[in-house]
Amino acid sequence: MTQIQSAVPDNTQGVREMLRASGYSEKAIDYYINKPHMGQVSDADISSEMTGSCGDTMGITIKMENGLVSDAKYQVMGCAGAVSAAMAVVDLIKGKDLDYARSINDGAVFKVLQEIPVKKHHCIQLAVKTLHKAIDLQQMKQSA
Ligand code: FES
Repeated sequence: MTQIQSAVPDNTQGVREMLRASGYSEKAIDYYINKPHMGQVSDADISSEMTGSCGDTMGITIKMENGLVSDAKYQVMGCAGAVSAAMAVVDLIKGKDLDYARSINDGAVFKVLQEIPVKKHHCIQLAVKTLHKAIDLQQMKQSA
């Protein structure tokens, strides 16, 4: 069932074991449990929201400084795969310019996560598409 992912679960050991058994790497599990980039950046310069084919939704907010991503956060109403993918995307784009951020693809995120269940690969796509949409909207705004 889809739920808003915000708080750190109480029983992290149990969650960890469940995710491990489902095929998540320790890295992906750490992202899910710690949620280091969950929330909204205040005074965001760039943002977007997207709903995946599964019905789950996520949004990204990005703050720019001197042409580089100084901060970014995701809000995720979705599964553990979606949360871990979103957190990994932020680690990939922080400190980078928008051209680099636009070049991020599913494979790059999967590399960071190391392993998530095959059935959850579309969750990586949702995180990447949400990022791309935000950058495209920003570039459209700038060229208008
Ligand atoms: Fe929908 Fe993972 S099942 S994003």
